[in-house]
Amino acid sequence: MRTLSTVAEMSEALEPVRLRRGRIGLVPTMGAFHEGHLSLIRRARADCGVVVVSLFVNPSQFGAGEDLESYPRDLARDHALAHAEQVDVLFTPSLDEMYPHGYATTVEVAGLGEILCGDPARRGPGHFRGVATVVTKLLGICRPDVAYFGAKDFQQTAVIRRLVEDLNLAVTIEVCPTVRDPDGLALSSRNAYLSAAEREQALSLKRALDAAQRAAAEPGASVASVAGAAQRELEAAAVEPEYVQVLCARDLSALESLDDGEALIALAARIGRARLIDNAILKPSSAKIETGEKAVGFDPARQMSRERSVR
Ligand code: PAF
Repeated sequence: MRTLSTVAEMSEALEPVRLRRGRIGLVPTMGAFHEGHLSLIRRARADCGVVVVSLFVNPSQFGAGEDLESYPRDLARDHALAHAEQVDVLFTPSLDEMYPHGYATTVEVAGLGEILCGDPARRGPGHFRGVATVVTKLLGICRPDVAYFGAKDFQQTAVIRRLVEDLNLAVTIEVCPTVRDPDGLALSSRNAYLSAAEREQALSLKRALDAAQRAAAEPGASVASVAGAAQRELEAAAVEPEYVQVLCARDLSALESLDDGEALIALAARIGRARLIDNAILKPSSAKIETGEKAVGFDPARQMSRERSVR
């Protein structure tokens, strides 16, 4: 594995791969690897001849007062894990390399970047502007055939798919299933902030998704009944959500009825220092619970990414 930190080194390393028409897979990360990251890397390893993992804690996606300074960082551990997963290139650019003096360009996905987590009352549109900008830059630097993202960050994947389509970027976006701990907690680098008691409380997010699934399968289920079922689970655990929303899974638009298309339930809550998000695709007419996580056979997020892929 090569560890490279400049754009020039990346060009030099990847140009021969492009010339021989090798398939390049990119896994963009902010480090502090957990099984979720490793599942993306393994997927890229299975699909692509050359696997690039970028590791950059991107300041532009953190708001004032957020956890940029304390965000978990362990380069030595991440390096060892990437090496063990047979990553070809670990890209660890500095802040100056990504945003040199005079840097002036941002990428903003209107609408999609301004709802849910991007609502001005929450993280605000600056968060997804930061994500969209850095992902566009990473796609430009690595020019991968495929880039891999996790379904836990469903809104992020919607923003990225939109920008790839709008900017005619020649890359396939693969959205891979959420990976969970055995007790159901979706893996996140920010889980490290949770105390034992807070972690117990955090399990209510998955219970809320499961309650929403059950409510969606009931005759006469509505957007309100599904959201209410999730809300009650959170209340029972004394978790005050930032949002619990049932939306169209395709474009995150508002849904009047569960029959109006594939529905997504998305939720966010602050538990102690951790701001946690989770989501599930709702399957109203099916007895089987499908939450898009790894154990499930059909993965709607992946299906969507295939349908919308550029290549
Ligand atoms: O999901 C993340 O870790 C980040 O938002 C990403 C996509 C690496 C951009 O900084």
